Amino acid sequence: MNILVTGGAGYIGSHTCVALLEAGHSVIIADNLCNSKAENVKKIIKIAGQEITFYEIDVTDSQAIEALFKNYKIDGVIHFAGLKAVGESVEKPLSYYYNNIVSTMVLAKACEKYNVNKLVFSSSATVYGDNTVPFVETMNLLPTTNPYGETKAMSERILTDIAKANPAFSVSLLRYFNPVGAHESGLLGEAPNGVPNNLMPFVTQVAKGKLDKLRVFGNDYPTVDGTGVRDYIHVMDLAEGHVAALNNLTKGVHIYNLGTGQGTSVLELVHAFEEANDIEVPYEFIERRPGDIASCYADASKAERELGWTAKRDIVAMCRDAWRFEKKLKDLVETD
Ligand code: NAD
Ligand code: UFG
Repeated sequence: MNILVTGGAGYIGSHTCVALLEAGHSVIIADNLCNSKAENVKKIIKIAGQEITFYEIDVTDSQAIEALFKNYKIDGVIHFAGLKAVGESVEKPLSYYYNNIVSTMVLAKACEKYNVNKLVFSSSATVYGDNTVPFVETMNLLPTTNPYGETKAMSERILTDIAKANPAFSVSLLRYFNPVGAHESGLLGEAPNGVPNNLMPFVTQVAKGKLDKLRVFGNDYPTVDGTGVRDYIHVMDLAEGHVAALNNLTKGVHIYNLGTGQGTSVLELVHAFEEANDIEVPYEFIERRPGDIASCYADASKAERELGWTAKRDIVAMCRDAWRFEKKLKDLVETD
């Protein structure tokens, strides 16, 4: 299939492009590079050994998107493009609602106009709010604590209503848990701007000596060791989950958790990283981060049952690959 990948230059999108190409699909990327670099496109081509088409366009720009649909025979769309920093979404709610909701509507409208009936959407486990773990797709969604989470819940609702009204439309809503790690080549990975918000990139930067120590947000949660528990999933497993979702897409709305089903605490992740890479990660405990929940992990059985997909890479592979990428970044900086 010829797949339009919005946000394909970003962290999850770039890995998914590799997986799509390896599965025999063709890829057109639309990305405005607001949180990524064009060189990621070259890296995708290098890893997969195949050409792709790249357009630097904003997905909220309906004219630019319609021109793409007019000029290419698109068989399906994977919509990654979006702003994703939870804290920033509280400070800049309008940017988040505008970018994340309008982009979804522009794409859905172009799909309708050009009769493209397959769409896969990047949602998030954040839509479960503070439900009881493990999170199952059939649970009622609870309010999230930030505008970012609301944009995911709203986009899910918009796409669901469109599919209800148009029986030819097929939508897969993929609820990601905590993507970490990097492509095993060390070429693609997560390189956030500024001080990382997320745990794994913070850990790799502490290991590198770029940051002095990890601040663990709270050690009084009702969890195995008092620190927050999450379902970390290797980004290449997540990427392969998209290919499975696309290949198995049938009419209507389908919701899948993409996680491992395994909860790991902050301390467990830190110790796994230290062991996997034989490097120390100094840390201290500080107060809880506002908006955090104690535990978040998936019931991942539906994706296994219906898509034949399960996560294969363990926490050791996640830690090794994240560290390989971080070290390579350092090498690149040093040889610049
Ligand atoms: P990312 O920031 O690395 O990638 C997003 C890409 O979209 C970037 O390349 C950015 O330049 C592009 N983009 C943003 N707005 C755009 C627009 N209007 N037009 C064109 N391009 C635009 O983020 P990621 O981690 O790869 O996340 C991809 C998707 O997955 C996002 O929708 C995110 O909300 C969702 N998600 C991510 C996580 C996570 O922890 N990384 C968890 C759950 C869901
Ligand atoms: N944590 C720390 N110190 C840090 C960073 C994180 O202790 O410097 C802890 C958090 O308190 C949490 C765990 O590490 O217990 C994971 O935190 P992340 O910020 O890496 O991830 P979150 O689970 O908070 O959120 C992520 C994405 C969201 C997405 C959600 C889905 O950032 O966009 O996963 O589960 F919605």
